[in-house]
Amino acid sequence: MNRKRVPIKIFENDLPASIDVAKRIAKVMLEKKATGKPAVLGLATGNTPVKMYRELIRMHQEEKLDFSDVITFNLDEYWPIRPSSLQSYHIFMHETFFKHINIDTKNIHIPSGEWREEEIDTRCREYEELIIENGGIDVQILGIGRSGHIGFNEPGSERDSRTRMLYLDKKTRLDAASGFSGEKNVPKMAITMGVGTIMEAHEICLMAFGEKKASIIRRAAEDDISSTVSASFLREHSNTTFYLDKSASEELTPLCPP
Ligand code: F6R
Repeated sequence: MNRKRVPIKIFENDLPASIDVAKRIAKVMLEKKATGKPAVLGLATGNTPVKMYRELIRMHQEEKLDFSDVITFNLDEYWPIRPSSLQSYHIFMHETFFKHINIDTKNIHIPSGEWREEEIDTRCREYEELIIENGGIDVQILGIGRSGHIGFNEPGSERDSRTRMLYLDKKTRLDAASGFSGEKNVPKMAITMGVGTIMEAHEICLMAFGEKKASIIRRAAEDDISSTVSASFLREHSNTTFYLDKSASEELTPLCPP
């Protein structure tokens, strides 16, 4: 049993938390620029990072934060799905973030929901190789699913799992149902970076907001480290911080009782 606790920052609500993560990303971008190297960002989709993306867009528009040489790798994508489909993570990233900043589209990488089944293993290996060729991910942004997933690493995903195709958990498909006009329309499968891939990032920021995330945050932060909750593996990473609002932190055991 391993009770090691990850560093946790708790904010009044999601806005200051999102701004804090955006500031951290901007700082890493500037530090990398100073060394003459582009920053490599690992990005997530979903509701959780939206305000963080808004803050980065504001920094770009008002403070000239420069994304021209930034390289991005997204965590995951449904499979199969067309990149032009409204529910695809390609469209989400373009609409929420990429079209508002000066990123070079050739530096954007997202697993494709159109990869043919027989080529998926090769494409996933190439995705990993590309991350390594670019020097690894400087900052990885994560949300957490109610199944405990990071990326789409559903329960059963091992510590050394790599980028691959897998079946989505029932809870994950239920949570995605409204976006797809019903659970039956949610793809059964997805392509995701593995837990091992994520753990190689130099720094990891996991964000979780709202009471719906409180119970899984407690399990990730305090229960045994195991593949039952893939986010629990983050406690074995030396530079991971959880950014929570008050509601998401509510079930954590107080470290210093009053
Ligand atoms: C999305 C991703 C997922 C989400 C998680 C939380 O790219 O990798 O792990 O971060 O499902 O989703 P939201 O933020 O919508 O609650």
